[in-house]
Amino acid sequence: MLQFDMTHALPFLPPNWLSSRLDGLTNSRGLLEKGNGLGGYFTGWVRYPETYDREELDRLLQTARIIRDQSEVLIVVGIGGSYLGARAVLELLTSPNYNLFCKKTPQVFFTGNTLSSDALNELLEYVADKDFSVNVISKSGSTIESSIAFLLFRQLLEKKYGRAGARDRIFATTDRKKGTLRELANQEGYATFSVPENIGGRYSVLTAAGLLPLAVAGLPVEELLAGAYDAMVRLRQPGQDNPAWQYAAARHALYEDGKNIELLASYEPSFRFFGEWWKQLFGESEGKDGVGIFPASVEFTADLHSMGQYIQEGVRDLFETVVRFSIPRSSCLLDPKPGDHSGLDYLRGKDLRYVNEQARRGTALAHADGGVPNLLVSVDERTAYWVGQLIYFFQYSCGLSGYLLGVNPFDQPGVEAYKDNMFALLGKPGYEEKRKNLVDRR
Ligand code: PA5
Repeated sequence: MLQFDMTHALPFLPPNWLSSRLDGLTNSRGLLEKGNGLGGYFTGWVRYPETYDREELDRLLQTARIIRDQSEVLIVVGIGGSYLGARAVLELLTSPNYNLFCKKTPQVFFTGNTLSSDALNELLEYVADKDFSVNVISKSGSTIESSIAFLLFRQLLEKKYGRAGARDRIFATTDRKKGTLRELANQEGYATFSVPENIGGRYSVLTAAGLLPLAVAGLPVEELLAGAYDAMVRLRQPGQDNPAWQYAAARHALYEDGKNIELLASYEPSFRFFGEWWKQLFGESEGKDGVGIFPASVEFTADLHSMGQYIQEGVRDLFETVVRFSIPRSSCLLDPKPGDHSGLDYLRGKDLRYVNEQARRGTALAHADGGVPNLLVSVDERTAYWVGQLIYFFQYSCGLSGYLLGVNPFDQPGVEAYKDNMFALLGKPGYEEKRKNLVDRR
């Protein structure tokens, strides 16, 4: 099971950091279990690893095989919770360079997460002479970034394969019943998969929103679900030794002590997009009503040479959560020869795994000595099973944390402000009043 280690945070915490929060945690757990807290309808993810639709998963795996057979490239269209989870897991389980190394599975590109014409044109040009399929993911079915990207890639597919041919290459993941994308998919006869109504975007990576692109890339999605299931069984049990309770309580205690920023760090470069997923999960769930820890992420050791100075000596409002994979996949024995002048003789016979681990230990000690509490989350290996555990651990901790903070962890009302202004400036029908207020402002 996933391990949670507080050694380098305890000196910063009062003796009652956990005991004083047990009532709050018991209450938060009850709200997640019963779904009767703020936003409680959107707690479908709590039991999802055991309640998911097995038939839909079988169909998804069959569809993934079809996409693999017919495509050199899969274009995944989606943004926020309809994008970050799939990319996070794909990169973490393979590599940020998946598209360079994939031999037997299609390249996977993520778009629909930008309004940059340069970025969209680059990808449209890249796939123009390739066989490709599109998985468009949008729960609401009306998000502007993904709607525009889908329009452009659908038009390209129809030009290339005809409308009927395009139909066989478009796969829509959306709400089961409602929304613009659902209506279009029904009308055109696209194959569809659903994001359950009671699961919000940032909690949806284990649904078809994450699993279809991952299955196309040949990843064992059942193992991801199995890891999440085992974590679910453990973490739904109340108690002081529950790692999600400890993490939520420690974060809350540190926040109350003025630690406003949490840095998620790992010593694996493939973890970078998992950090992006985690930032949305915690940032969108907690940052509201004038409260919330600001989630940031760093990649070590790379960022020790850029952000390390600030972390060590800047404003002391940070704490750090490190995710560690205890058993690296590969080894790399260092063998500097006498006369190499590498300056690395002292590492002769050492494995790079050992060097990376000493960097982690040394950094944890330095940062703690410098006033940055360190939390450590360890799983055994960088495999689908353990990543499933990590996903469920962070989702469950986030639900507990949001309720401890007294906010609704499942809404995102603040996201609407930019959209309202943008739609008004773009002249979208229904935004005329808003437009009048904006035109004279820069
Ligand atoms: O977590 C969320 O709810 C959001 O990040 C959404 O996933 C994101 O805005 C995309 O929405 P949709 O899936 O409706 O296109």
